[in-house]
Amino acid sequence: MADHALTGILSAVGNTPLVELERVPAGFDGRLFAKLERFNPGGSIKDRPAISMLMGEIRSGRLIPGRSVVVESSSGNLAVGLAQVCRYHDIRFICVVDAKTTEQNLAILRALHAEVEVVTEPDADGEYLSVRLRRVRELVRSIPHAYWPNQYANEMNPRAHFSTMNEIVEALDGRLDYLFTATSTTGTLLGCKRYVREHGLATKVVAVDAVGSVLFEPGPPTGPPVRRLIPGHGASVRSALFEPDTADEVVHVTDLECVVGCRRLSLREALLAGGSSGATLAAFERLRPRIAPGSLCVLIFPDGGDRYLHTIYSDSWVQEHFGEVSHLWKTPDSTAAAGHGKG
Ligand SMILES: Cc1ncc(COP(=O)(O)O)c(C=O)c1O
Repeated sequence: MADHALTGILSAVGNTPLVELERVPAGFDGRLFAKLERFNPGGSIKDRPAISMLMGEIRSGRLIPGRSVVVESSSGNLAVGLAQVCRYHDIRFICVVDAKTTEQNLAILRALHAEVEVVTEPDADGEYLSVRLRRVRELVRSIPHAYWPNQYANEMNPRAHFSTMNEIVEALDGRLDYLFTATSTTGTLLGCKRYVREHGLATKVVAVDAVGSVLFEPGPPTGPPVRRLIPGHGASVRSALFEPDTADEVVHVTDLECVVGCRRLSLREALLAGGSSGATLAAFERLRPRIAPGSLCVLIFPDGGDRYLHTIYSDSWVQEHFGEVSHLWKTPDSTAAAGHGKG
């Protein structure tokens, strides 16, 4: 990140590697790169908004070490990023999570001295987000000096990704034809797209959403939400940050396509990627027939596979949810065969 005033572990956030993928896009007449955000010290891209949402508050004196309390709803990556900033600056952090949060994420949060509150009752649609947000509001009302960064409405969330995009564009000497970004709060998507507009770039920004997510559906959600197994991208509630015309294209990806994308990356590139990273590879494959020869494409990989060892990388979990599907990543050029959702 361009913030040279950051010290200690926080100074290690950003400047993540951009690596070329030469095997998974076999036969592609162009170049494909992955921006590996797992190399942030908290293990994900969400270290960036955690810093941008809190550091301004700390520097301005609105958040006071030893006195203020940060409260946020997150089921994983942002929570780890916030826990990191809060511990470093001696600020109490209460994280509201839900029953779907993995044991591993809970253990990481506790190891970083976050206080974890688990919401166990979903709302009428079986979703937890609205219940978590209600609990956050209660906590902020009742705890003195409490501050809610609210990643769903905080402009410093998208702002954080100017640096993400700047690092990519500089590494490619200013040329980038396609950017594929998984989306949930839409912070990454918005920040990258605003960068593209402000710098007059010709980059097409592709939003990668989950089948069953409400983000890019026109109007209010219809019907019961589709049960999604893989966290990270997609949303059951549209964030206040959402701007309808941000993405040049939207691709909806199924859980199975995520699994296949991840397994292809581990098998062919020796790259252990998180679920939404696999989704970006599936989206690239979907658009590939329409991408002009010679194009430079980047997939943002928000986190790593080590947080998905008991799901995406567990043969028994995959078998339980999708049946015998290993042929889908063992044969070349197989992402497209994993079954399309919408998009
Ligand atoms: C693994 C993963 N992928 C994708 C996203 C979506 O990013 P954004 O919230 O910036 O839309 C997140 C957000 O937490 C995430 O954790």
